[in-house]
Amino acid sequence: MSKVELTGKTILVTGAAGFIGSNLVKRLLNDVEDVTVIGIDNMNDYYDVKLKEARLEELDSKPSFTFVKGSIADKAIITEIFETYKPQVVVNLAAQAGVRYSITNPDAYIESNILGFYNILEACRHSYDNGAAGVEHLVYASSSSVYGSNKKVPYSTEDKVDNPVSLYAATKKSNELLAHAYSKLYNIPSTGLRFFTVYGPAGRPDMAYFGFTDKLRQGKTIQIFNYGNCKRDFTYIDDIVEGVVRVMGKAPDKAVGEDGLPLPPYAVYNIGNNQPENLLDFVTILQEELIRAGVLPEDYDFEAHKELVPMQPGDVPVTYADTGALERDFGFKPGTSLREGLRRFAQWYKGYYL
Ligand SMILES: NC(=O)c1ccc[n+]([C@@H]2O[C@H](COP(=O)([O-])OP(=O)(O)OC[C@H]3O[C@@H](n4cnc5c(N)ncnc54)[C@H](O)[C@@H]3O)[C@@H](O)[C@H]2O)c1
Repeated sequence: MSKVELTGKTILVTGAAGFIGSNLVKRLLNDVEDVTVIGIDNMNDYYDVKLKEARLEELDSKPSFTFVKGSIADKAIITEIFETYKPQVVVNLAAQAGVRYSITNPDAYIESNILGFYNILEACRHSYDNGAAGVEHLVYASSSSVYGSNKKVPYSTEDKVDNPVSLYAATKKSNELLAHAYSKLYNIPSTGLRFFTVYGPAGRPDMAYFGFTDKLRQGKTIQIFNYGNCKRDFTYIDDIVEGVVRVMGKAPDKAVGEDGLPLPPYAVYNIGNNQPENLLDFVTILQEELIRAGVLPEDYDFEAHKELVPMQPGDVPVTYADTGALERDFGFKPGTSLREGLRRFAQWYKGYYL
């Protein structure tokens, strides 16, 4: 692997107003000396735009951060950003996320996840035009959803992932395939990261822990899918950011194959907690932490607000990350406990909404 020095570099982060993107930008601006960060986000209303604006407000005060409002599916904007700022490291986090929404709104996935990602790859390719040094490392978000309903756990990047069960998962797997082809053809060092259920303060309102909290607070009933027999490898946001930053700093090596053509400098890793939690245990911890933070009253009647329902289309019963490769190559594995992570979420929720 080749070291990619981040100090003094220009880094493009797409999806910068998103949950993971905004946390990554904050970390880069705080910790990397002399860094310039360009962020792009189309600020779509898939979930409350105010939350995206609030995340951006925290970043806007920093002079080394430039925000562009626009879509990665707009080739002219992407070309202009690459020509103007010449980013040396690119982190593509912009995407239409969510499994269930891809059933009702498939267009958004093709536009952002396929066309948008293709534009990023094309821009990386042309960053080397006329002998320019160009992009040193492209890091992009894939997802644990590529494992579909694979039976073997923990999920390893060595496993076959040819059976997606949602359009979202199919677009993420397609990203990995497109990145492989572009790495091979144009020698772009690329690393795909399969994130496992990321949660934390100012997280995504469309995700279960957040939606459950909203509903419980409003006295509504929460639905627990697959009668609670789901296991998720919940990964705390700071662990994801730590993993992404470490990965950004080390790119797959460039090498020449027997045919004289580049061997693709291409890699894919899991970033997950490596400790799946049962959905019912997760809900219990969430409830306890919501009471502790004062979001819900001490005597809240949870049983009256809980409904066990069947599996939903596109969902998978278990996600469980094998993080061996991440530990081997980057000396890191997520370690924040669910209780600690949900405690920080509950405290943030109390401060933001109540
Ligand atoms: N949060 C998780 O549990 C999780 C798990 C696996 C993979 N991922 C992936 O990680 C990445 C970041 O996820 P997140 O949880 O921060 O989601 P998020 O929705 O909070 O962030 C994505 C951001 O991208 C922006 N965006 C969407 N389409 C865009 C476009 N065409 N052009 C510009 N901006 C666009 C959105 O406005 C949003 O702010 C996504 O690629 C997602 O698929 C997330």
